[in-house]
Amino acid sequence: MSGFDDMDVDTIWMDGEFVDWDEAQVHVLTHGLHYGSGIFEGVRCYDTEDGPAIFRWDEHLDRFYNSAKPYDLEIDHSREELTNATLSLIERQNLQSCYIRPLAYYGYNSLGVSPEDCPTRTAIACWPWGTYLGEDALENGVEVMVSSWRKHASSQIPTNAKTTGLYVNSMLAGEEARRNGFVEAIVLNKEGNVAEGPGENIFLVRDGELYTPGLAESILDGITRRSVITIAREHGYEVHDEATISRGELYTADELFFAGTAAELTPIRVVDDVTIGNGSRGPVTEDLQTAFFDLVEGRTDDHDDWFTHLS
Ligand SMILES: Cc1ncc(COP(=O)(O)O)c(C=O)c1O
Repeated sequence: MSGFDDMDVDTIWMDGEFVDWDEAQVHVLTHGLHYGSGIFEGVRCYDTEDGPAIFRWDEHLDRFYNSAKPYDLEIDHSREELTNATLSLIERQNLQSCYIRPLAYYGYNSLGVSPEDCPTRTAIACWPWGTYLGEDALENGVEVMVSSWRKHASSQIPTNAKTTGLYVNSMLAGEEARRNGFVEAIVLNKEGNVAEGPGENIFLVRDGELYTPGLAESILDGITRRSVITIAREHGYEVHDEATISRGELYTADELFFAGTAAELTPIRVVDDVTIGNGSRGPVTEDLQTAFFDLVEGRTDDHDDWFTHLS
């Protein structure tokens, strides 16, 4: 991903106001900065044949408010306000397609671990973001390694909340993989079963059927995961969405792919130097990827209710 300074973006929405990009600053004693006490979303707006449209905005907003619940983080902006702010940001910066990052966190007041009296701060930024795992990743797939780091167990921290502090685990796993020459990691859960990628859910294909770890496997309830499950079933595939997948099953899978807002549908061609299937994008992955991109880029009218269009 190129740096923000190379991008043609100039505005961020912060606590109800549109502010200049360079002015969107926080105090260094912000609670969320010290303790990871924030929650966020990652959403994509696609350049569809009917103009820019946000993919599954309602579901992302649901998860945004739900993520705040375990932390007692009261977001004092309504769904409508966040929606209008986001649509305005896209429009006023002339973005056709972009990534959208809503964020809420405990702000500046005191630095006890208890966030008592720290205000909730909320911000939204949008910027152009192409393929997440490399230029040719969508077509040719990526090489990944199973991380030596395990995912937090959902008994230790709510893994279904998209909490800022959780992502140091993702960072450790991803950086370990990259230091070892891989593009991304697969992270096992505390029980040693496959959980997900650092920022993606995972699907396995075996004998034409799909398997993905269930929500009890300490994964994020990914919105792309849900979309893939729906699309796959509509295409006649059997989908096992409560699967427990052992590490060994990764190596013998016919196909593997990541699913996530940033990674979209990215084939996995190698795990730990073991070639998966024939070592390139498999037919089921390709079929679902085509269906997914036809949908998000507006080449079909299916699931129109999954899109929030700019008026
Ligand atoms: C840990 C983790 N798992 C899965 C996902 C995929 O979720 P979604 O499809 O909602 O982007 C993400 C990305 O948000 C993530 O960070």
